[in-house]
Amino acid sequence: MQNTQVILKSRPVGMAETHNFEWQSAEIPALQVGQFLVKNEYISIDPAIRGWMNAGTTYIPGIELGAVVRAFAVGEVIESKNSDFPAGVFVEGLLGAQAYAISNGQTGIHIVDAQAAPLSAYLGILGMPGMTAYFGLLDKGQPQAGETVLISGAGGIIGSLVGQIAKIKGCRVVGIAGGDKKRDFLLKIGFDAVIDYKNEDLHSRLQEICPEGVHIFFDNVGGQILDTALLHLARGARVVICGAISQYNDMTNIYGIKNYMKILTARGSLSGIIVFDYLTRYPEGKQALSQWLQNGQIQNQEHLIQGIEQFSQALKMLFTGENLGKLLIKI
Ligand SMILES: NC(=O)c1ccc[n+]([C@@H]2O[C@H](COP(=O)([O-])OP(=O)(O)OC[C@H]3O[C@@H](n4cnc5c(N)ncnc54)[C@H](OP(=O)(O)O)[C@@H]3O)[C@@H](O)[C@H]2O)c1
Repeated sequence: MQNTQVILKSRPVGMAETHNFEWQSAEIPALQVGQFLVKNEYISIDPAIRGWMNAGTTYIPGIELGAVVRAFAVGEVIESKNSDFPAGVFVEGLLGAQAYAISNGQTGIHIVDAQAAPLSAYLGILGMPGMTAYFGLLDKGQPQAGETVLISGAGGIIGSLVGQIAKIKGCRVVGIAGGDKKRDFLLKIGFDAVIDYKNEDLHSRLQEICPEGVHIFFDNVGGQILDTALLHLARGARVVICGAISQYNDMTNIYGIKNYMKILTARGSLSGIIVFDYLTRYPEGKQALSQWLQNGQIQNQEHLIQGIEQFSQALKMLFTGENLGKLLIKI
């Protein structure tokens, strides 16, 4: 049987482009004892993939040149020599950007219940992005009813979930996102206000919408948006640094934050979150998010792209803002 794999051919300078990847067709080797073969159904397109394409180690090592591009995926075990992962079960984890994956189950592969939720949900709301939103907001942000929560990158999966969780906790929620489509979507799912940073002046809109300041700033974007948001912190504000997508394409020239003194005068705090630190608490996050999803208190927005050959184009969409919600490739 043949596999189709997306291989890292060269390291991008700036935006990752099609020429940085190679689509390889390879014979699937026979399974060794302890291994199982997964037929991937969905591949998760995450901003982190762009960071992993750089040389060196951040919180995990970069992808080696010539290796399958690291990506979360979900699929069915179709052949197995591992009794913990028998044929017929569905699994999620870092299975790679490929049609089939061989695993020994030792690298963060989890069995998922395909009856309880659509498979794709395990890459979004019930997967790593959902856990990031849940623990990032609740553990780092510590939201209190009546507080104002500002979220950048609000139209993505993490931003849209953070906003909806903050509403459940009784907060007022303001999103920052580009364009009318994202604004309409965010207002529809309960955001109180949305600032279109591509067409509106962020600073003056924050003065109008948040005259008392912002109690939590959940930042997915970094750079100038973070710098401007800092000026609007309320006393005791918490800034949660979840991501910095505006910087990922040029990590050698990171935007220098000028307004950090506002953290001092606001008696604020700033903390980073890495979702993998919460692995042991994932069951708590999954339980809460599944419950809210079932109750209709949270909507799970997905953006599906068909075909592994679209991998490079799909990754680019995260940086041009073409995606709405969780970006996935259906194989
Ligand atoms: N800390 C952790 O453990 C952890 C885990 C997972 C993800 N993350 C981070 O969380 C963030 C959100 O992830 P996600 O999966 O939900 O992705 P996402 O929000 O769907 O990311 C793509 C969105 O980012 C916005 N964007 C891209 N470039 C931008 C720029 N230069 N300026 C402003 N906005 C820009 C675009 O929306 P617009 O149309 O609004 O521009 C785009 O649709 C990312 O930074 C990611 O790296 C962190």
